[in-house]
Amino acid sequence: LQARAATASTGFAGFDDHMSKEIAEQPEVAARTIDALAPGVGDGSLWHGLVLPRFERVAVIGCGTSLNAGRVIASAFERLGGVPSTSFIASEAAETVIEPGTLMIALSQSGETADVLRAVDELDLSRSSLVAITNNEHSTLARRADSVLTCQAGPEIGVAATKTFVAQVVTGVATALSALVATGRMTPGEAARQVDDLKRLPDLLAHAIAVSSEALPPVVDSVLDEPGFLFLGRGSGIVFAAEGALKLKELSYRWAEHYPAGELKHGPLALIQEGTPVVVIDSGERRLESNIAEVEARGGRVIRIGGPGSTVPALGQSLTAPFPGAMDRWGPLESVVPLQMLARELAKALGHDVDKPRNLAKSVTVE
Ligand code: G6P
Repeated sequence: LQARAATASTGFAGFDDHMSKEIAEQPEVAARTIDALAPGVGDGSLWHGLVLPRFERVAVIGCGTSLNAGRVIASAFERLGGVPSTSFIASEAAETVIEPGTLMIALSQSGETADVLRAVDELDLSRSSLVAITNNEHSTLARRADSVLTCQAGPEIGVAATKTFVAQVVTGVATALSALVATGRMTPGEAARQVDDLKRLPDLLAHAIAVSSEALPPVVDSVLDEPGFLFLGRGSGIVFAAEGALKLKELSYRWAEHYPAGELKHGPLALIQEGTPVVVIDSGERRLESNIAEVEARGGRVIRIGGPGSTVPALGQSLTAPFPGAMDRWGPLESVVPLQMLARELAKALGHDVDKPRNLAKSVTVE
C-alpha cells in the first residue's frame, strides 16, 4: 500500500516509472494527434491554416530525439512529394545558407533548447518560413516561429523523449501530407490513403508494446555484459537506428553507434567480434540480409527489429500495407517502441534511473 501511495503521488499511475507510462501512452497520443489533424489533410486546410507561402524545399532543425523526428518528417516530404529536404543539427546550423523558398521546420518538445533558439535567431530566414513543432505552445520557440504546430503528447517527465517523438512525427507527417495536397504535389485521394495508413498506427504501436514486453527480457539478458552496440538500418530505417542508439546511450550508459548498413563494410565491421550486439532495423530492404550475414559470420549477435525472423517480432507490420507506398515510404514508426523498450529494460537491469539519466537534463537551456 505504501508503495502504491508513493507511486501514485509521483504520478506513475501504476507504472514503475514515468518512462514506462509515457511509452504506454504512445498509441493514445498517436490516435489523438491523428484525430485532431486528419480532417485538415485531404483538402490541404491544415496547411492553409498555417498561412505559409509556397515552398521549393524543406529543412528541419533540432537536437537529439527532436532532430530524429525532424528527419522522419523531412523524409515524408521527400519520399511522398518529391520535395528536396535536408536536416540541420541545431548547434551547427548558424552559418548555414538557407535558400529562398525553404520551409524551415524547427522541432523541440520543450521549445526552450538553447541550440535551437540560437539557430533560428542567427539563420537568415528572411526569404523562407519557420514552422515550429513543439509540445509547449507557450515556449520561446513557439513565439519566434511564423507558425506553430502544437503536439498532442501531454506532459513528458522522463528525460529521454518517447511519446513526444511519436507526436512530433505524426504531427509533421500529417502537415506534410496537407502541404503536398495544398501545393498540388499530391492528389487528395492519395492523401486520404496515406491518412488511412496513419490511422493504423495506434494499433501497430499497441501491438509493438505488447509483443516487445514479452520478447525483450531474454534479449536484454543476453547483452547485459556487452560494452558496445551497433545499430544498422537502410533507407527509412536509418533514422530509427539513430534514435535507437541515442536511447540506449542515454539510458544504459553503454556505447552505441548507428550506421547506414551499407557503410558496415567501410569501417564498423572491424568492431564486430563474438557476441557484439548489432540491432538491425528491418524496413524490408533486401540488401540488409547480406549485412546481417556479414555480422553473423563474425559471431555478432543480431537483434532484428521487424521483418521475417525478427528477434523482436512486433514489427514490420506496415510492410503488409494494402497499397503501394504508405508508411514504409517515410519510416517504420512503430519500430521506435522496441528500441525505447530495449534501452529502458537494459538500463533497469543495470540498476539505472530511467527517468533521470546521469548528466542529462530534460530541457537544455545552455549551449
Ligand atoms: C535534451 C534531452 C533529449 C532531447 C533534447 C532536445 O538533450 O535530454 O532527450 O531530445 O534535449 O530537447 P527538445 O526539448 O529540444 O526536444
